[in-house]
Parts: sequence; C-alpha cells; structure tokens
Amino acid sequence: MTKTLSHQEARHFYDRLAARLDSQSFYEDIAIQRLTEAGGFGRAESVFEFGCGTGRLALDLFENHLGEAARYRAHELSPKMVALARERLEPLGERARVILTTGRVPENEISESYDRFVSTYVLDLLSEAQIRDLLFEAWRMLWPGGLLCVASLCPGATPISRTVMSAWSRIAARRPALVGGCRPLDLVSFLDAEPWSVLYCETVSRFGVASEILIAERRAAA
Ligand SMILES: C[S@@+](CC[C@H](N)C(=O)[O-])C[C@H]1O[C@@H](n2cnc3c(N)ncnc32)[C@H](O)[C@@H]1O
Repeated sequence: MTKTLSHQEARHFYDRLAARLDSQSFYEDIAIQRLTEAGGFGRAESVFEFGCGTGRLALDLFENHLGEAARYRAHELSPKMVALARERLEPLGERARVILTTGRVPENEISESYDRFVSTYVLDLLSEAQIRDLLFEAWRMLWPGGLLCVASLCPGATPISRTVMSAWSRIAARRPALVGGCRPLDLVSFLDAEPWSVLYCETVSRFGVASEILIAERRAAA
C-alpha cells in the first residue's frame, strides 16, 4: 500500500510552502486551464473546492467564468493557505467562504447543494481509502447532473512523461515528504463505486510532469 502523509504532516508541509505555492506549480497551469474550460463554470451556481490552496483557482473562476450570483465554498487543511485564500477572496464577501478543517472529508456539507465539486492536486496526496471517501462525499454533495472536476498527477502518456512520472512514483513511495505527499494516480479507476458518467478525460504534460483532468457527471442512484 502507498505511504501517504498524515493530515498533520500535510498541514506542516503546506503551511511552510504556502507563500511559494503559486510560483512552484509550473506543471499545473495547463491542466487547470483545461479543467476550467471544460467544466462549464459559466453555468455553475454553487461551487465547492476541496483543498483550495491560496485560492488561485477560485479567483480565476470568479474573474473569468462564474456568473454574478454564483457562490463558492472551500475546505482547506493548512491555516496559512486559508489566510492567503481568504485575503485573495475578500472582495467577494459572502459569496466566497474558506473553511479551515482537520483534513476530514466534507461529511457535514449538505447533500445535493452544489453543482460543481472541484479539487486540483489534492487527491494525489490522499490515501486510496480517503480518495474513495472523498468521492462518495462529492457524489452526495452534488445534485444530479452536477459535475466532479478534478486534476491530479498521473502516470503519463508519452515515453518522456512515463519516465519522469515513474521516477516521481519511486520518490513518493520512499520519501513522500520530498514531493508534498503527491504521487501519480489513475483517477478514472476511483469512479467505480457511485454512478458517474465521465464527460471529459485528458492527459497533459509540462516538462515531463503529467496531469490528468477528469470531469464526470453525477448520476442519480440506480
Ligand atoms: C498541492 S496543493 C494544491 C493546492 C491547489 N488546489 C492548487 O491546485 O494550487 C494541496 C493542497 O491541499 C491541501 N490539503 C491537503 N490535504 C488536505 C485535506 N485532507 N483536506 C483539505 N485540504 C487538504 C493542502 O493544504 C494544499 O493547500
């Protein structure tokens, strides 16, 4: 079983990284751009983000995609990230809320109350059991027809990216703290428990670092 960081270790790591996170995420930009383009955020009314970091994606959604009435709520484990995200989103007032959590999945959020559940580069630092629990909560929190919009590191689709990501996997397995606990995932393989329809799945890479973007529609229970 893959070793992952405890919530306490992840909080410590991301607290220390907080001020530098946005300048170190060179490989994320293209994946996040695809996710925002394919996620139909112009039609979204209620967005939830798990692990919002500095609030960078949220600000982009408000500035370039969401309508006037849309609201946003995020859960985040690192107090430093929460402070940065709140500062960044402060002009949005009540429309944007960022909640500091202990790292638990959002089981207290109301069922069927969001039409987008977003998480970028967070699932890849959770254990397999936590990912499954989180996806169950995402399914529960989305109303039927709502979209799961996730991006994570993945094994890669080209010879160069497969080599880079296989080296990344070996480092993550031995010294997860060196890579912030993140390791490549096959996101689609986690969608087997609840009814989802995959609408969009793409692999992109930057300097050999590969990311998968997955958008899936929440279907009603059978
Ligand atoms: C690699 S960063 C990605 C941040 C942001 N989503 C982005 O794409 O720039 C991972 C973020 O997830 C947060 N995080 C990690 N585990 C978490 C958990 N169990 N619950 C909530 N946030 C978590 C970290 O504090 C950090 O801000």
